[in-house]
Amino acid sequence: MEKIVALCKRRGFIFQSSEIYGGLNGAWDYGPLGVELKRNLKDYWWKCMTQLRDDIVGFDGSILMNAAVWKASGHVDTFSDPLVECMLTKKRYRADQIEPQSGTAYYYKGVTISVLESDNTTKNRDVQREFSVLVPAGKPEASAQKLARQFYNSIGYPDAMITSLNLDRSEVVQNTTKFNPENGAQLGPEKTFNLMFKTYVGPVEAPSSITYLRPETAQAMFVQFKNVLDVSQKKLPFGIAQIGKAFRNEINPRNFTFRSREFEQMEVEFFVKPGTGPEWLEKWLDERLAWYEAIGIPRAKIHVLTVPDKDRAFYSQGTYDLEYEFPFGIQELEGIAHRGDYDLKQHKEHSGKPLEYFDEESKTKYLPEVVEPSAGVDRTVLAVLCEGYAEETIKDEESGKEETRVVLRFSPRLAPIKAGIFPLLKNKPELVAVAQSIYKTLQPLLKVAYADTAAIGRRYRRMDEIGTPFGITIDFETLEGAKEASTSATGTPIAAGQKDTVTLRHRDSMKQERIAIADLPAYLLAKIA
Ligand code: GAP
Repeated sequence: MEKIVALCKRRGFIFQSSEIYGGLNGAWDYGPLGVELKRNLKDYWWKCMTQLRDDIVGFDGSILMNAAVWKASGHVDTFSDPLVECMLTKKRYRADQIEPQSGTAYYYKGVTISVLESDNTTKNRDVQREFSVLVPAGKPEASAQKLARQFYNSIGYPDAMITSLNLDRSEVVQNTTKFNPENGAQLGPEKTFNLMFKTYVGPVEAPSSITYLRPETAQAMFVQFKNVLDVSQKKLPFGIAQIGKAFRNEINPRNFTFRSREFEQMEVEFFVKPGTGPEWLEKWLDERLAWYEAIGIPRAKIHVLTVPDKDRAFYSQGTYDLEYEFPFGIQELEGIAHRGDYDLKQHKEHSGKPLEYFDEESKTKYLPEVVEPSAGVDRTVLAVLCEGYAEETIKDEESGKEETRVVLRFSPRLAPIKAGIFPLLKNKPELVAVAQSIYKTLQPLLKVAYADTAAIGRRYRRMDEIGTPFGITIDFETLEGAKEASTSATGTPIAAGQKDTVTLRHRDSMKQERIAIADLPAYLLAKIA
């Protein structure tokens, strides 16, 4: 993971937000290559959802909405995580993510301190304040005492004052989640913490002007269901697709961009006839699994978790989580939930506006059920980076020496730059002229890069490291004609002596073949479609 994070910074995929000010935890900036990768990913999702299907229309809702939306959706009352705080360091953790630990727990009642009286004598006084420490089995109490002292110091009793630590008891405990896994100190009581970012609309910071940065893009699609239905004249089943920012004040942002406080979602709310939700949930599972394969994430690396009843969101009647094998563990990429008619029902009741669908066939009105595939853009970008990253030992094509090649094996449709265009030598005007002409021809069609410095092997290597799938080299055969007859990358024959061909180098296999310059646009466009 460290290598991927370092590469992301070095080559301009992802930077820490506000880096020169020490950063902002849970926020990230996408650099020149990262933004292309992310955009290609979103464009491909958008194409699959709204262009290649007749039953989904696009939508772009506002981030700020009437606060009543969040009350109706249940987010104001229930969108919270259980929070615990280390009594010593004050660091906060999600209570449900504390790993169970075993060991010996030492429970202190408090401390005895010596106090200077007004008559200049010192007296001992007991301070009652419970604190406990977990130490691994077999470790002496001394390490618990050290932490306990630090705790009592932190609440106003310096070592110079403490005459004794007062141990109440000790016991061997198994699988407890009551102690900080990082230092063994006691965790405070569990509290619930609402994850929505609160803000004020307008100049007055009054309760009536409170609203929230949306924690999911979904709700705007529910509250606009009727408007979208009326204008698009769709019949059930039909869906609304949206890509946009969402904000969650996560207690512990971590694993690079995986859990951030500001992130993007790609969500479809797919409205179906009552009773058909379960069948659509299965269809969407298949559809989404195929989509991940199409962006280069093999099926074997995606784990489908049937979320157990006790872990499902309260509105869900069935949820699949699609999880990816990240280097830091198998973690969720996307949730596919059967939300029933929960959301439309809530918004109908809270707004007082009818949100029923009129079924022409049965001449009845009803609230549709909803199946929602909801994917994270940033998590998918991270999965694509992790999946693509490879290190290989290869022989340098010119020196013959062994070296490490770092390569990002992106699917060509996602690669930030599709092809690098290289004149073999930059001091040969004839080569440069052809290379420039190819560059100018391809530039309006797809993202290409022109590079003429360094040896050709170095130029290939730099392109490998940013995941560029094709290298196009303009060499002497381009000007003088092919040395031998061959078969072009397109499958057509290239005769000996045929001019206007270039070397096409493939990133993953490093295989080189020739292709006619005239065939390049169609060849490359087909590869990235
Ligand atoms: N509308 C349903 C919904 O929001 P979710 O499972 O909470 O469901 C959907 O979120 C997806 O959004 C997740 O599968 C994940 O990819 C992404 N996501 C959620 N929280 C995130 C976070 N803190 N950082 C990055 N991505 C996140």
